Amino acid sequence: MQDSIESFFSELNQIPESRSYGRVSGVQGMMLEVSGLERDLSIGSRCDVIGRGNTRVTCEVVGFREARALLLPFGSLEGIGMGCKAELAATEPMVWPSNAWLGRVVNALGEPIDGKGPIASGQSPYGLRSAPPPAHERRRVGHKLDLGVRALNTFQTCCQGQRMGIFAGSGVGKSVLLSMLARYTTSDVNVIGLIGERGREVQEWLEDDLGPEGLARSVVVVATSDEAPLMRRQAAYLTLALSEFYRDQGQEVLCLMDSVTRFAMAMREIGLSAGEPPASKGYTPSVFAELPRLLERAGPGGGKQGSITGLFTVLVEGDDHNEPVADAVRGILDGHIVLERAIAERGRYPAINILRSISRTMPACNTADEEKIVNRARRLLATYEDMAELIRLGAYRRGSDAGIDEAIYYYDRIEEFLKQSKNERTNLETGYAELAELLDESWPLSDASGQEDRA
Ligand SMILES: Nc1ncnc2c1ncn2[C@@H]1O[C@H](COP(=O)(O)OP(=O)(O)OP(=O)(O)O)[C@@H](O)[C@H]1O
Ligand SMILES: [Mg+2]
Repeated sequence: MQDSIESFFSELNQIPESRSYGRVSGVQGMMLEVSGLERDLSIGSRCDVIGRGNTRVTCEVVGFREARALLLPFGSLEGIGMGCKAELAATEPMVWPSNAWLGRVVNALGEPIDGKGPIASGQSPYGLRSAPPPAHERRRVGHKLDLGVRALNTFQTCCQGQRMGIFAGSGVGKSVLLSMLARYTTSDVNVIGLIGERGREVQEWLEDDLGPEGLARSVVVVATSDEAPLMRRQAAYLTLALSEFYRDQGQEVLCLMDSVTRFAMAMREIGLSAGEPPASKGYTPSVFAELPRLLERAGPGGGKQGSITGLFTVLVEGDDHNEPVADAVRGILDGHIVLERAIAERGRYPAINILRSISRTMPACNTADEEKIVNRARRLLATYEDMAELIRLGAYRRGSDAGIDEAIYYYDRIEEFLKQSKNERTNLETGYAELAELLDESWPLSDASGQEDRA
């Protein structure tokens, strides 16, 4: 009771004391021009524009032109016309998360969209665009995190507080992999942002891939492709704000976002409407300034805080892994997982290209034995890949090179190991043991150097 009174009063404090308003003086595409509020508005401030028939649509200031403010809406502009009233809205956009959000699906405004009724607000507000903890206060990444997916656990080991990108073209298996991570990772809480997905797919993903067990320890934020760019952008901010809330409670948070590219596309739409010049592939400079600000919010916390392990999907259009968003994201994160169409086409899921993916916390997080076994498997794969064309053409004669013969011998076994159905969960320790077994080694490795290093 006390809590709800407190939260009521703090929400009350958010309401501005006096109401100022301006008028719509122009509409161009999705952009509104408002005059009369220039002195009260700054970039990022919000207005409620009241349309004919008393409909309200919240808008955000994205720029200024001559003496007028330029605003983009969070919803549809239907009913808005010249002279409509624009009221100055509450100051900074906030959310009031609580533990009651677990198991719920919300939109970018934090409103429930799962038909399970209202969600109880928490006691303290969280800014949607807060800054990451200062670098010097942050811990280093923690110990290994069990992701429940064999190929990742062994070849792209991820540590608590690490941030990784999952790069893939469309339909190569990003969403399925993400659902496996949400169900199998040993985290306390998942915060999942589905940004710019097709509406039909969201429900399917929630019901079939994530399932009730996965949803129970997750909060899902959804902004579908048909929603306004501001909603899609805000869904990404909300995903991070909720992750920060659970992190501040000392929890180990897994933050999943599908996809960062759609966030960048929303930023591009906003930037172009505000008159920013397009730079590479039409993306505006603000997109590249905003990406690190968003992604840096994931990571280890400081002091008693938990950490936010971030896994972000990046859609690489036309399977071009050097397109600008992929390039920018790769530079910000601590590792990348590449999913490849050719691998998916031959039916090996998750379609991870082991040799092109890296985790930057490796090898530091590995024991000598683990490092040895993983490196041996990698070397075999690399040798095979180098010769793959010749082997398939039948141009390689067995017996010509012992190293290549060995790679051919083990290749199918390694491929089999990398395959994992979406309903199968594995753990860190058995991953290494299985890898050692298929390479005909005993686990733990029995040779002298391995023993020494472990001691
Ligand atoms: N682990 C898996 N096991 C079996 N099939 C899989 C697996 N992962 C993906 N697939 C197949 O690949 C298809 C596409 O996967 P998914 O929807 O995850 O791709 P996506 O990269 O998210 O696509 P989009 O870019 O359209 O969002 C799935 O419908 C499924 O048939
Ligand atoms: Mg998908």
